[in-house]
Amino acid sequence: MKIGSFQGEIPLFLAPMAGYTDRAARLICRRFGADFVESEMVSARALVYQDRKSAPLARLYPDELPGAVQLFGSEPEILAEAAKIVAAGTAGGVPPTAIDLNFGCPVKKIVSNGEGSVLMREPKKIEAITSAVVKATALPVTVKIRAGWDPTHKNAAECARAAESAGCAAIFLHARTRSQFYSGTDDRARRRRLSFRLPRGARRDRRQTDPARHARRTA
Ligand SMILES: Cc1cc2nc3c(=O)[nH]c(=O)nc-3n(C[C@H](O)[C@H](O)[C@H](O)COP(=O)(O)O)c2cc1C
Repeated sequence: MKIGSFQGEIPLFLAPMAGYTDRAARLICRRFGADFVESEMVSARALVYQDRKSAPLARLYPDELPGAVQLFGSEPEILAEAAKIVAAGTAGGVPPTAIDLNFGCPVKKIVSNGEGSVLMREPKKIEAITSAVVKATALPVTVKIRAGWDPTHKNAAECARAAESAGCAAIFLHARTRSQFYSGTDDRARRRRLSFRLPRGARRDRRQTDPARHARRTA
């Protein structure tokens, strides 16, 4: 798998987790075998409007790389501005290896604002946001999607194609729907059925007893 300057045969990615994947967690995970780390999701709007608390969330240091900063938002031009800030090394940090776009957050406050997983209901918006960010930065841009909105709207393939046509470098799939939030088993069959030309990453189930070994074995 190749994402810009990063290359790995069966790489292990640290999944972004709001409130958890801070610098300390990222360093610990690197020490225990993560090949690629990621920030928690950061509001593009908050970053652009210089919210004091958001900038540190989007800052990576050299000893954490390779890694990505994840942005969320709904306005292509704001996401493009935020991507430029991140690409320059937010708040005294260094440029990340990639910028990841969040189209999977299920939280009510986020989706009622038109952000996160609700964007999967409008693949055209996914395309517009991804395209704006791809044009704004030389860094590779990846996207994180879910299986879909609910059991009757499973359109991960359509959303992935929208992001792909906008120039994204890789797709990460959380194979649950928005209506599942974080519970229930993920749709492994669907994960296998999705076939893109792009590299794919799949978030693994936390309940595996040895998730790292399992992830490499079943990738
Ligand atoms: C507490 C928590 C916070 C999360 N925050 C984010 C986030 O900021 N961005 C994101 O893309 N996914 C987020 N996720 C989703 C995870 O990255 C992952 O895709 C999901 O938990 C599926 O993996 P699992 O089956 O091992 O739980 C979060 C998950 C949890 C449990």
